[in-house]
Amino acid sequence: MRAKKTILRNATQRSLTIGFVIALVACGGGSGGGSTAGNSTTQTPTVTTTITSSTTPDAPTSLVATAGNASAILTFVAPSTTTGTISSYTASCTPTGAGAVLTVTGSASPITVNGLTNGTPYTCKVNATNVVGAGAASVSTTVTPSAVAGLLTLNLTSLSNYAAPTLPAYYDNAVTAIDNTPAGNVVNNKTATLGRVLFYDKNLSFNNTVSCASCHQAAAGFSDPARFSTGFSDSAFTTAHSMRLGNIRYYRPGSMFWDKRTASVELQASQPIQNAIEMGFDATHGGIAALLPKLQAIGYYQELFTFAFGDANVTEARIQNALAQFERSMVSINSAWDTGFASVFNPALADQGRSLPVPGLTAQEDRGRALFMGGPGVGVGCAACHVPPTFSLAANSLSNGLDAGETRIFKSPSLKSVGLAGAFMHDGRFSTLDQVVDFYNNGVQGGPALDPRLTAPGGAPRVLNLSVADKAALVAFLRALTDTTLATDAKFLTPFKP
Ligand code: HEC
Ligand code: HEC
Repeated sequence: MRAKKTILRNATQRSLTIGFVIALVACGGGSGGGSTAGNSTTQTPTVTTTITSSTTPDAPTSLVATAGNASAILTFVAPSTTTGTISSYTASCTPTGAGAVLTVTGSASPITVNGLTNGTPYTCKVNATNVVGAGAASVSTTVTPSAVAGLLTLNLTSLSNYAAPTLPAYYDNAVTAIDNTPAGNVVNNKTATLGRVLFYDKNLSFNNTVSCASCHQAAAGFSDPARFSTGFSDSAFTTAHSMRLGNIRYYRPGSMFWDKRTASVELQASQPIQNAIEMGFDATHGGIAALLPKLQAIGYYQELFTFAFGDANVTEARIQNALAQFERSMVSINSAWDTGFASVFNPALADQGRSLPVPGLTAQEDRGRALFMGGPGVGVGCAACHVPPTFSLAANSLSNGLDAGETRIFKSPSLKSVGLAGAFMHDGRFSTLDQVVDFYNNGVQGGPALDPRLTAPGGAPRVLNLSVADKAALVAFLRALTDTTLATDAKFLTPFKP
């Protein structure tokens, strides 16, 4: 009781007492553990010296510094408790070269040191303090804070592979021939990585509410599950259905949008940014000219534009190139049809084996495949326009006759992952694939732009009169084009930390 009172009155005294006892035990056991005085080899402890050396804490160990955005996160292992309770830790980071030492006090690992300059290397260390005073500093470690490291999940020293996906053999010269990649913007991993960040960044919208990915969601085949998309204002909707982006590179000459109004993937990228409904940098909000300084001021873009282009300048052309590279890397080669077709593909055959049964498909899916691929007398000729193996639209496709008297000619995105979509056709008029197949069965409308592949002899719209089973088979086959690998591949998902 009396001893306890003493401890309560004088904590320093308690610490000294504990230090004394432990030092005796340690030396008696011959280990010398916990003492840093270097005198523990003597069998007769010098009591005064031992008390002094064990009263301030040992150095924390295993220091690891992780780069954050203008910060460093220091994790460490506390020193042995033989020197008593630690009241605080002091973390300090010193810039290499000139600059002030930043010091932060905390109560436990980890400790975040803020206020550092991105791109500057720092040397950081931690020491512990108890009632007696500050102990020895840990071994130092270096860290270079960066906005990318702090805010994004990217590892710039080990980039995802966008530039050189392993393509199946059936992605042959005929496929290469419809690749719309321009010579000046071939995909490289650095620029595509920047494109990924831009694609998922809500800063590209006027009020920071929508990104490209808001309307091009991976789980919906990089489209919007809704018929029309909500733009930045939350009250206005697009008048066209969002388009899937898989295999976007396999469409030549490369015109974009349902009505092909934009000449390339690059030029397309500015359109949603400037759109008064989509991302809101329209003329009344300063246009793209207002977006550039906004992005220029963001630390991770200074780092990523430098990484991709050699300097930090944010320009419209660089934004376009980076977004286009990211989009063109979305190649779809992993549907059930792909897996099966890979084993029957035969370049020596006139149709490369497309009319052969595809292993791995169900009987119903394979019946649908036969209908889709086969020309007159065999099937219903979908493949003449939605051309395998990319299932991109043939460049010479005319109207598919959705509306009577149609004069406009729309394109279709690749049918890969069409089963993940929630609405179909340019205006999203169909909400199920059954409705799509019903339309091709007996709903095609005549008009000046109707493609001859959808007319009967004599020029009237073609009527297929498919059985219920065959219509269901076509739908099943369209679903077998779903590429869940593309939809879930981490390199195509958001790079932003939660
Ligand atoms: C508010 C929703 C919305 C946002 C945000 C949006 N898009 Fe779109 N996207 C659409 C719609 C709708 C279409 C079809 C528009 C049309 O054809 O008139 C489309 C079409 C496209 C196409 C054409 C695909 C093809 O095969 O022709 C590309 C490429 C595209 N978007 C990329 C992007 C990029 C890149 C961004 C970000 C910079 C973006 N989109 C932002 C809704 C959106
Ligand atoms: C003459 C060429 C042509 C033929 C043949 C054709 N299509 Fe299409 N298809 C198109 C065009 C063009 C569009 C886009 C029309 C639009 O949205 O205005 C389209 C759109 C689609 C879509 C919707 C795509 C989307 O992203 O919303 C599906 C699904 C589809 N076709 C399936 C089929 C099937 C199944 C067949 C065979 C029964 C078929 N097509 C035959 C040209 C064709």
